Amino acid sequence: MRAARPKQLTTILVAALMVVASCASDVGDPDAADNSSTTTSPSTTAAGTSDAAESSTTTGAPTTTADADAPTGEAVEGGETVEDPYYPTIGNTGYDVVNYELALQVQVEGNDVMNATATIDLTPLENLSRLSFDLVGMTVDAVTVDGAEAAFEQTAEKLRIFPKSPLQSGTPTVVVVDYSGNPDTIESGTRIGPIGWYDAVRASVAVGEPMGARTWFPVNDHPTDKATYRFVLNVPTGFVGVANGELVETVELDDGTISVWEMRQPMASYLATVAIGAFTLLDSEDGAGVDVYDAVATNELDGFEGDFGQTAAMLEVFTDLFGPYPFDEYGALVVDAEFGFALETQGRSLFSGQLVDGDGSIERIVAHELAHQWFGNHVSPATWRDIWLNEGFASYAEDLWIEFGRDGSPAQLELRLQTRAVNAASPAPGDPGGANLFAPSVYRRGAATMHALRLTVGDDVFFPLLREWVVRFGGGTASTEDFIALSEELSGMELDDFFAEWLSDGPIPEFR
Ligand code: TRP
Ligand code: ZN
Repeated sequence: MRAARPKQLTTILVAALMVVASCASDVGDPDAADNSSTTTSPSTTAAGTSDAAESSTTTGAPTTTADADAPTGEAVEGGETVEDPYYPTIGNTGYDVVNYELALQVQVEGNDVMNATATIDLTPLENLSRLSFDLVGMTVDAVTVDGAEAAFEQTAEKLRIFPKSPLQSGTPTVVVVDYSGNPDTIESGTRIGPIGWYDAVRASVAVGEPMGARTWFPVNDHPTDKATYRFVLNVPTGFVGVANGELVETVELDDGTISVWEMRQPMASYLATVAIGAFTLLDSEDGAGVDVYDAVATNELDGFEGDFGQTAAMLEVFTDLFGPYPFDEYGALVVDAEFGFALETQGRSLFSGQLVDGDGSIERIVAHELAHQWFGNHVSPATWRDIWLNEGFASYAEDLWIEFGRDGSPAQLELRLQTRAVNAASPAPGDPGGANLFAPSVYRRGAATMHALRLTVGDDVFFPLLREWVVRFGGGTASTEDFIALSEELSGMELDDFFAEWLSDGPIPEFR
């Protein structure tokens, strides 16, 4: 599902030229480096006619092909970038994904073996002679388009599909990709370290942000193409599969279990998760009418209540401040894995077991990931340059939880915000650069920016502004410019200079 307007042909041409440019100069995604030796030769295809190989040699040259078979005129090749300012190789244009159904059979071993089928419902936005998805490290075995076998090829970062006849703009289309391999992590190029599919002997988990979803399924891997998801997880006896959304079905097999999970609200690909391990599923205390179901690594159960017991109360405070919780249910997913972070996976936030010790010391992190469900997940960044809209908002929400849920002293909270921002003043949260996507300044100066805005426009504007932001952009994406415009609209103030100063890397301004 795409909030943005369909791209014009000229945009696609520019996009295609950018792909050529970025290949030639070898800029772009650092992940490419790992695989580049295997990249350029197309690996095609039982299904393939020789068309595929021929098409591949024209990649990046003419971007339109008049197709004699096309009933409704000229078809174009889908673009292979959405021109994200930080990650120029991710995302693809020419279509809008509506739903991903991911049927994954996983042998959980030292090096997981996955056999998978992705059924991708999409709407073409152009007549397409060719389209692509992001996919790294997995091997595609077969592709069909509306039931007909299609030729395909893989590069280090893309799966290119050549349908027998062009896709028709606006006509719902089903692409089925059979693929397999050993899903793995890739470098994120940020201080978060590796992202993608983590495997360990007793647990496996997918962590996507910012562009690791492509390590385990073919995906339009950019927040601008949100979709609903259905996960069909086939895991061996002794393991439990967990994913985003609601558990709708469980089937016991002789040698394992199939569980089916549905995320029915549009989700950005970086928020998709699957975890396979020894989990206990808990029906926890509801909050603000939201059902809470947690999936907890069984060896972390002892500390769980001590660290997550405030979730219902947090739901009450945040729904008061931000508006209704945007998804069908909430919960935590605590995994026995070594990445050491938490990630706001949609509807069920992911926490490394390393964080859990039962003494309540991660209360701020628990609040942070919950707040992301509104800020980041329901309203997602238009580009990765807009990351402070995620991390600054969620970090400030920690303070709002302390203020409204814990009767925190406003003066003390303010001092803390100020001190932390001064100690993490740069890089500029409004444009930190890809390597600094998760730099402390994005979180801390971002949070202080929110507090400064509150003091500037007053509570009577600030809190309605948060709710209007969620109403207006929920289900889609929004940019820093959108936030400035809405702030100006609701306050009647001129705020360009305010945001320019706060979101820069200059000295931290006084709050008043
Ligand atoms: N968004 C996470 C947070 O809440 C940070 C993060 C980004 C992350 N990418 C990740 C955590 C990958 C774990 C894995 O601040
Ligand atoms: Zn965060």
